[in-house]
Amino acid sequence: MAIPTSRTKEKAQIIINDELCIGCGRCVVVCSDYSLTLANKKATQATNPIFGCIGCGQCMAVCPTDAISIHGRTISPNDLFELPPVEDTANYARVLALLQRRRSVRRFKDKAVDNETIEKILDATRTAPMGLPPSDVHVLVLDSKEKTRAFASDFCNYLGEMKWFVSNWFLALMRPFWGKANDEMFRGFIKPLFKVYIEGMQQGENLVNYDAPLAIYFYGTPYSDPADPIIAATYAMITGESLGLGTCMLGAVHPLIQNGKKAEKFRKQQGIKHKSREGLFVIFGYPAVQFKKGIRRTFAGEEFL
Ligand SMILES: Cc1cc2nc3c(=O)[nH]c(=O)nc-3n(C[C@H](O)[C@H](O)[C@H](O)COP(=O)(O)O)c2cc1C
Repeated sequence: MAIPTSRTKEKAQIIINDELCIGCGRCVVVCSDYSLTLANKKATQATNPIFGCIGCGQCMAVCPTDAISIHGRTISPNDLFELPPVEDTANYARVLALLQRRRSVRRFKDKAVDNETIEKILDATRTAPMGLPPSDVHVLVLDSKEKTRAFASDFCNYLGEMKWFVSNWFLALMRPFWGKANDEMFRGFIKPLFKVYIEGMQQGENLVNYDAPLAIYFYGTPYSDPADPIIAATYAMITGESLGLGTCMLGAVHPLIQNGKKAEKFRKQQGIKHKSREGLFVIFGYPAVQFKKGIRRTFAGEEFL
């Protein structure tokens, strides 16, 4: 058995065309599984790979003569494409300008994000790296403000049924198990958040996802690396910015819909197929607010060893 994912548990198949192979060894160098070696000046399958081919595709992408192809684990030579010219890539100054101009946006114009723009976001986001191929990230797209509001409204109703989760007796009970930092987070952030979300919605104000015209939820499966959906969400956010959209990540929904029967029912109702350790919403829309200045940010610590 190869490394299991929710999509496939097979290892990929490596096919080498000896006639085309020039023995340059590039495929051997890029293979992180040690599935390949050189024998008699030809690429050959190694007898002692680490896991068996994980189907990353790097060997066929690096081969100068198309002598190697990978099949299975959702990949095939059909997944290769010509690289865009290097002159077309963003340089540091442009990337930095895009990042410096980004702000979390929570107020949007009443303008839909069209399908072509959504497809552009997803196209760019599919390039995100993942802990292990193939990507185990799921994407749920809410493509209108009516859909984001309906989700938020259902979420607030669900929170209404889960109020015990932030009750004083439950938090006191849990403190020895989940520790001081979690206790402080629940009392100082999650408990007031329940109130703000529920009361906001009762008064007609959607503070969950701000009636954004587009929300995309990235979540994993029990198999995926917990970082994968977060990386995909980050790619989506930056792509959205490059398309002139305002964006904001929303971290509060995911952890609150993971545990228990009610959470399972909520996920099912919303078409969310798995529970997962990490997940993140990103909302998008044409910003109704323009920021005049950037804000300098710092990390909690930066040690150079
Ligand atoms: C992981 C993550 C989760 C977040 N969750 C929320 C959220 O649930 N609701 C919200 O309004 N903003 C949320 N934000 C936005 C942050 O509050 C925002 O990034 C922060 O205020 C800094 O503002 P800036 O992005 O303009 O620098 C989240 C941001 C991140 C990175």
